[in-house]
Amino acid sequence: MRIHKLAKDLGMDSKDLVEKLKDLNFPVKNHMSSVDEETAEIIKHEIEDLNKKQIEENVLLVDFPITIKDLSVKLNLKPSELLAALLKEGKFFTINQRIDEETAKVIAYKYKVNLRKKPTQEEKILTQESKNTKKRAPIVTLMGHIDHGKTSILDYIRKSRIAEKETGGITQHIGAYQVQLKKGSITFLDTPGHETFTAMRSRGADVTDIVVIVVAADEGVKPQTVEAIDHARASGAEIIVAINKIDKANANIDMVKQQLSKFELVPEDWGGKTSTVNVSAQTGQGIDELLDLIILHADVLELKADYERPAIGVVIEAKLSKGKGAMASVLVKEGILKIGDWCICGTFSGKIKAMHDDSGARCQQAVPAFPVEILGLNGVPNPGEQLLVAPNEKSAKDIVAKRKYEEEKRKIMPTAHFKLEDLFSKAKEGQIKQLKIILKADVGGTLEAVEESLKKISSKEVELVITHKGVGAINSSDVLLAEVTDSLIVGFKVAIDAQVRELARTKGIEMRSYQIVYELIDDVTAAFEGLLAPQIKRTFVGRATIKTVFKLSKSGIIAGCLVDKGKIIRNIPCQLFRGTEVIHKGKINTLKRFKEEVKEVLEGFECGIGIGYDKIQEGDVIDAFSEEVITRRLK
Ligand code: GTP
Ligand code: MG
Repeated sequence: MRIHKLAKDLGMDSKDLVEKLKDLNFPVKNHMSSVDEETAEIIKHEIEDLNKKQIEENVLLVDFPITIKDLSVKLNLKPSELLAALLKEGKFFTINQRIDEETAKVIAYKYKVNLRKKPTQEEKILTQESKNTKKRAPIVTLMGHIDHGKTSILDYIRKSRIAEKETGGITQHIGAYQVQLKKGSITFLDTPGHETFTAMRSRGADVTDIVVIVVAADEGVKPQTVEAIDHARASGAEIIVAINKIDKANANIDMVKQQLSKFELVPEDWGGKTSTVNVSAQTGQGIDELLDLIILHADVLELKADYERPAIGVVIEAKLSKGKGAMASVLVKEGILKIGDWCICGTFSGKIKAMHDDSGARCQQAVPAFPVEILGLNGVPNPGEQLLVAPNEKSAKDIVAKRKYEEEKRKIMPTAHFKLEDLFSKAKEGQIKQLKIILKADVGGTLEAVEESLKKISSKEVELVITHKGVGAINSSDVLLAEVTDSLIVGFKVAIDAQVRELARTKGIEMRSYQIVYELIDDVTAAFEGLLAPQIKRTFVGRATIKTVFKLSKSGIIAGCLVDKGKIIRNIPCQLFRGTEVIHKGKINTLKRFKEEVKEVLEGFECGIGIGYDKIQEGDVIDAFSEEVITRRLK
């Protein structure tokens, strides 16, 4: 094959091709040289790859949506040139029309330009490259069933008797404390339950490196222990189990270990992989061992942070204090937070006026993994919210303004998470490989039965995974876990209160509750089979060619047509073709023979058709078809 022919196939100038081939070390002299078929194929691939690479590298940053006018400037074209080129492809745009990201990218690609979204100020702060990473303290969260001794363990470690001070001995807030040990520092977070912990993760602010699951040796694994285990797993944190209250007469360590094994937490001394340690918050037995274990795990994780970048942190708790304004406990993740920094937190901002450490002492700065209380924000942020340091006041205020706008938009249209209806189509597109379900049932027996039945449902493309299961009503913790893990929530004979329903709605989480087990199984089975994602089958009905275009004062633009195949029926869907390109999809809105509105017009007859599109041209073709929803079953 001659090079000039090859160049033509590749849609490029033959001289350019010769040059490129020389660069690629292909021995060709000029455009009249010839190569064998095999080499031609190789050249084609090489050149296509090269062109692709060149376009990929030719990055232009713009804001979307972009007007045709701005786009043409970016592409070094006159707007009229770009419009004409698009028109040639049958695409009509006007000079001030705003086009979306995808369309603009496709257009630009033809001009060998790789359009990318300009990063926002916020993205610029977040995506700064790490320069100088250094070791940081591990962040450890204690989780477990109520009253199993989380606060007491922490209290023993800090020797500050926090548990006694709390109302009724129940933790009311999340506290963060850093303890300095000979072998290193550890930052501890105490949780009252698991909800706040999930909220933190669900906002992408997961700070926990290691979760210590606390189980009381007298009571053993309880529902909230199981929830804690599932939440810890979802966060991807390391898990250590502390078996507490071993000083009690009725402590039964073996029972706890046996229960843990059922949840795939087989203790190391039982041949498994889970580190467990027996402790007593009362006598202090085993506490040193627990600390050693934490340090050991942390060393393996090689935890590091960048100490030089603008600080990023996460809010642990926040409140309004009389006289002082908003107070927020913040755990610094990266960078060093300093007094005087301009911060953004949720939709609030402010300059840090003062900082205190966990003992209440004033401090000037906070390094990664160090918890501090800050003053200066102009509002009380939510726990779990990210704290960002902006370069200056203006930038902080701009980012907040943008966030407020986005928040308003989100209120109107919550971002949709996974929906059962989408399962089949998404699986077919290869977008999902797993259907994750959070399963709740009224009693333990039915929970197991439903789970067993669900596990039997499967398809080649999708695997069913139970993210969490439990007995009792669907609660906000389930919704938050669903948000983090992209699961859907399925309930059997359980209640969902209005507040939880509303939370799920704003977060775009799908919840389904059933009273009859077969209905539940049928729905999930149907989703796997694509029954909930019905396909639309089209059947060709007729074709008409546009002979003239005229405007009627009442019905707008009307196409004077000749039906050259089948028939045209009023009110059925249609497509308008120009050449081979579909330029409009719509419906046969009006159908007339002379001045009469008719129901259908047969092949060989003339008629007037209105499709609600005013840029029709002589020679365009209207294809009309019927649509039928079909359901399909897999074997
Ligand atoms: P919540 O924050 O409400 O979820 O509870 P918690 O897990 O923080 O439990 P907390 O530390 O408040 O302890 C609950 C009760 O158990 C308190 O009365 C403690 O004194 C007691 N307790 C905690 N650890 C031990 C222990 O090792 N031995 C004995 N005997 N009692 C303990
Ligand atoms: Mg507590």
